[in-house]
Amino acid sequence: MSDHPVHRHDQADPIDEQHVRGKFASRLGFLLAAVGSAVGLGNIWKFPFVAGQNGGAAFILVYLGCVAFVALPALLVEFSLGRHCQTSAVGTYRQIAPGRPWWLNGLLGVVAGFVILSFYSAVAGWVLKYFVTGVTQGYSDFTPEASGGLFVGFINGTSGPLAYQFVAMVLTTVIIFFGIEKGIERTAKYLVPLLGVLLVALVVRSVTLPGSREGLLFMFRPDFGKLNAMSFVNAMGLAFFSLSVGMGAMMTYASYVDRSVNLGKTAVNVAALDTLVAVLAGLAIFPAVAAFGQQFSGGPGLVFVTLPQVFDQMPFGRVVGVAFFFLLFVAALTSMISIMEPVVTWLVDDLNVRRHVASVGAGAAIFALGVPACLSVTGDGLMGGIKIPFLGGEVTIFDFLDMVSQNIMLPLGAFIACLFLFFGWNRQRALAEVAGTAGNPHHPLLKVWYWCAVTIAPLGILTILVTKILEMAKG
Ligand code: PHE
Repeated sequence: MSDHPVHRHDQADPIDEQHVRGKFASRLGFLLAAVGSAVGLGNIWKFPFVAGQNGGAAFILVYLGCVAFVALPALLVEFSLGRHCQTSAVGTYRQIAPGRPWWLNGLLGVVAGFVILSFYSAVAGWVLKYFVTGVTQGYSDFTPEASGGLFVGFINGTSGPLAYQFVAMVLTTVIIFFGIEKGIERTAKYLVPLLGVLLVALVVRSVTLPGSREGLLFMFRPDFGKLNAMSFVNAMGLAFFSLSVGMGAMMTYASYVDRSVNLGKTAVNVAALDTLVAVLAGLAIFPAVAAFGQQFSGGPGLVFVTLPQVFDQMPFGRVVGVAFFFLLFVAALTSMISIMEPVVTWLVDDLNVRRHVASVGAGAAIFALGVPACLSVTGDGLMGGIKIPFLGGEVTIFDFLDMVSQNIMLPLGAFIACLFLFFGWNRQRALAEVAGTAGNPHHPLLKVWYWCAVTIAPLGILTILVTKILEMAKG
């Protein structure tokens, strides 16, 4: 690799082009891409409901603490390592600690990306299906009696869900194919602000509905009595997943960032915007759910069963529903590209595959693993009968991929990254990297960061890992 990535030729020469690493063209582009990664299904269907169930505003306070002291420090570990080495996650560990096995953590991230995307794309496909349904026929079929059956009927099908998942994967692959600036950055620059505008419009619609107050109370009324040890673990797990930490997605994005960018500031902005979106998602959803007398719930049941009924009853509900599913698809798509990029960056940087070939190859391989995931969401799917032994029980392929990646691979990856900061890297270099060439490496907050990243953050993450494994083993 040349030390001088800047090209003298004005016209990119096709052979040389494969050796030039892409780059985010602007600070804003990087920020929006990272926000796009962070804002995903987690913010919209997990956070609001978990907050509502666990003490409302009291839980949100705990969540903020977990973001500040666990997730944000871990995010900065990834940012600083990625930017420092300007290569794939595997290459990053290799470069800093040659001859030692830390690089396996980079590989774990690549595998995690592969696995997560296989089922995340299935869910993104469902979102796309509900968007298309809204556009072509509206939500009038989604009566309280029919809504649940329609959803289960759809996800247990074969060609329908696979077709939508295929489209979601093709879109992701095409964006990745065009590279960092022309693919990822450009997509984020248009779609992430659009997501923000749509979300604010949906909040206004929701909170102005008569009878929406109960929804606000559900999510925000502080109830400190509901806080217990599990709320802390839940908040930590949520914060951590929501900031996309643990598989090298953020590390990979940061490897394409200019040295002058202050990573500390960027990470704080990402965390703040991600949390804001999670809170706004609750404001967009629960007041509307309350206004139409529906049950508060979370997860796929909320999005695919309850909300279509709400849209069916709401004035202008079809437009609102289409806007909502579009927003959710954008949130999923901008996360999907960040989950796939580490796989492609690894193929390009470590295995010298050309980006175009790597994108299409990775996209096809991930879709291939996505097929069994998609067909095993419930026991009634075509491959739902296949059971995988896991922690003393048996689970479907979909659940296996979901649990192994989210509950084991991500926390493990983040935990090892924090350990690496302390045992494998150099404190001075890490602080300078976080500040960037234009920032102050002696800023007192940087010391706070380092201290959190080598103490509270790994301990917190270890707690998530152990609790999740125990929880899964109990079934
Ligand atoms: N942060 C995304 C969400 O909230 C999920 C994600 C996890 C994306 C890990 C990338 C890496 O849905």
